[in-house]
Amino acid sequence: MSVYPKIAGQAAGYINNQMLDIKSGARNNGQAIVMKGIMANVSEEETRIIADWLATQ
Ligand code: HEM
Repeated sequence: MSVYPKIAGQAAGYINNQMLDIKSGARNNGQAIVMKGIMANVSEEETRIIADWLATQ
């Protein structure tokens, strides 16, 4: 497994939940701490929009 996950085409609900869990700190495994600082600047409305888009890729 590489450090950066493949997220294109995964289910929107799954992607959104991962972003919210990383943002809240509920998910703090592996390299999630790297993502936490990025997600701090992304609103819950934005994670939903991003997740919907990624799921179409
Ligand atoms: C728009 C920008 C970004 C989005 C939407 C995004 C989204 C995501 C998502 C959805 C996951 C969880 C994947 C899964 O559970 O399968 C993830 C994990 C991760 N992201 Fe990002 N990411 C972004 C930017 C970045 C950047 C800039 C970095 C590095 C500097 C980064 C590093 C990582 C790493 C290392 C993980 C894996 C964490 C772990 O070990 O569990 N991401 N990202």
